[in-house]
Amino acid sequence: MQEVKPRVQRSYTTCGELNAGNIGETITLKGWVNRRRDHGGLIFLDLRDRYGITQVVVNPENAPDAHAVAEDVRGEFVLAVTGEVGRRPEGTENPNMATGEIEVVTSSIKVLNASKTPPFYVNQESDVDESLRLTYRYLDLRQPRMQRNLRIRHQAIRVIRDYLDARDFMEIETPIMVKSTPEGARDYVVPSRLYPGEVYALPQSPQQLKQLLMVSGVDRYYQIARCFRDEDLRADRQPEFTQLDLEMSFVDQDDVLDLTEGLYVEMFKALASKPLKDDVFPRLSYHEAMLKYGSDKPDLRFGLEIQDVGDIVKDSEFGVFSNTVSSGGVVRGFAVPGKGDIPRSQVDALTEASQRFGAKGLVWIGLESGDAGLTARSPIAKFLSDEEVQGLADATGATAGDLMLFVADKEKSTAEVLGRLRNHVAQEYDLIDENVHAFCWIVDFPLFEWDEDEQRWDAMHHPFTSPLDEDVEYLDSEPERVRAKAYDIVLDGFELGSGSIRIHDRSIQNRMFGLFGYTDEQVSERFGHLLRAFEYGAPPHGGIAPGIDRTVMLLAGEHNIREVIAFPKNQSGQDLLMGAPSPFDETQLQELHLQLDLPPEEDDE
Ligand code: AMO
Ligand code: AMP
Repeated sequence: MQEVKPRVQRSYTTCGELNAGNIGETITLKGWVNRRRDHGGLIFLDLRDRYGITQVVVNPENAPDAHAVAEDVRGEFVLAVTGEVGRRPEGTENPNMATGEIEVVTSSIKVLNASKTPPFYVNQESDVDESLRLTYRYLDLRQPRMQRNLRIRHQAIRVIRDYLDARDFMEIETPIMVKSTPEGARDYVVPSRLYPGEVYALPQSPQQLKQLLMVSGVDRYYQIARCFRDEDLRADRQPEFTQLDLEMSFVDQDDVLDLTEGLYVEMFKALASKPLKDDVFPRLSYHEAMLKYGSDKPDLRFGLEIQDVGDIVKDSEFGVFSNTVSSGGVVRGFAVPGKGDIPRSQVDALTEASQRFGAKGLVWIGLESGDAGLTARSPIAKFLSDEEVQGLADATGATAGDLMLFVADKEKSTAEVLGRLRNHVAQEYDLIDENVHAFCWIVDFPLFEWDEDEQRWDAMHHPFTSPLDEDVEYLDSEPERVRAKAYDIVLDGFELGSGSIRIHDRSIQNRMFGLFGYTDEQVSERFGHLLRAFEYGAPPHGGIAPGIDRTVMLLAGEHNIREVIAFPKNQSGQDLLMGAPSPFDETQLQELHLQLDLPPEEDDE
């Protein structure tokens, strides 16, 4: 962040602040030994802290005591070095370092603490096993890249606080021990000692509490909120993670979107190393996103837009196409510019990839220019008329030299396969513009999704999400048609956050619960507290919750949220540093009136 801060008062000098302007000053540096070089006479120590690295030189003739100490010093020792700032001899300056013009000519060294030999190099980027990094996270965090990530996270949260404070938001803490607040994952639970057999749940998000705050008359709330979800972990998922949780009263969808967009523009302009592709984020309906990008979190840093070509091939001689259309399926595909002549092995690899993504097959067509227009190089070329080839080219925007890829199947699986294939092709052929960040909004999500296992409708976002006004009439007759006032903010192919305008009308809420098949008892047991509150003057309200970890991951250019969390769990949900989870001890079990019923241990064979 470009900002001039007043110099912080310290009784010592940091390892990042000295320059030619300090030459002649006597100072004391404190920090860790990054590197020690013994030139058989002079000893050079690079001293490191959060702020940088400063070269320290110890001359046995001027400072024999300091030299004796320096002889025994090793990497990661903590030192206090006193000396005079001098100009480095000509030819030894390092223009890549902020302190590269100077060195500290040592008069005394005090060892503040020794260090064992670290289990991996702290002073250089190397390929260290992640378990080792997480076990010794405090050493891992000493590295400049990790220090930078911690700083970016701090700065992002500062931008958030300043931005929301300027807009009348209040930061309010909500409890960590609550009643289950289902967001679709399993709860983490805390057994109660005072109420044997009962548990608190850790919040999957502060969803219900923030809605209760709206009923409490807090019209603009936010919180940097810790959330807990027991679900399968991935690169962008942790069992505990942090949201910027916010909620506003008397707003409609555009108010929430505009506010959030303004925040993200400000944050990325201040902190990101790359510009935004669009300062005004494109808003795509869910339907449009699924059609054009086969995903509700499209990566808009590249094109490869998917087109529906059902109309062009509905009477095709190629049976896969015509039969799919006549049986209610779709045929869709996209063009890959300049790849019309890729070798057979590469198209085979693309076909295999599509099959992994769930496709029955993949039609590929390389376009060449012939005497009478475009001609197709494809295993199905003999089934395609000239008009069909031209029609497909027009629809996908392809021309001679380009490759076209098509999938025919039911709508849902075609969209999904092509969405994944689109990402795959972009990666394989380096088509992603890595020099920009591309945000977008996905709006008009379906309100419901069909739960195959339970054979009932379920809320796609959550049960308090409001339907679009114009779709309320279809609530009972055609639930699949009802769109929601629900929205996602998406960045570079990642879902950053979700939100919605909530239902504050009790009769609509009851119709929703009816559709989910909840009994009155279930409703009162799960949501009674919220529904009761809504009977005492609930203002219309809505909000959003962007994930802080994913936001900072993308700001920092990392590929895994563990890189931007100080003390993350590993991919298996374990805290390797502290050793959690750890077994119950007998007294805990007794106090909690619990008995273990563990599965038999598996044999290692
Ligand atoms: P949702 O469940 O979509 O919405 O979550 C919002 C955002 O939280 C982040 N997120 C996660 N980050 C890391 N690890 C996880 N396991 C994880 N799960 C979710 C994502 C996601 O987009 N209460 C609603 C919001 C609302 O309606 O206001 C909610 O939690 O970035
Ligand atoms: P087949 O008739 O199974 O030999 O398939 C002929 C070509 O069509 C092959 O290249 C298949 O990969 C492709 N194909 C088969 N089914 C589909 C489908 N559902 N969508 C797209 N291409 C398909």
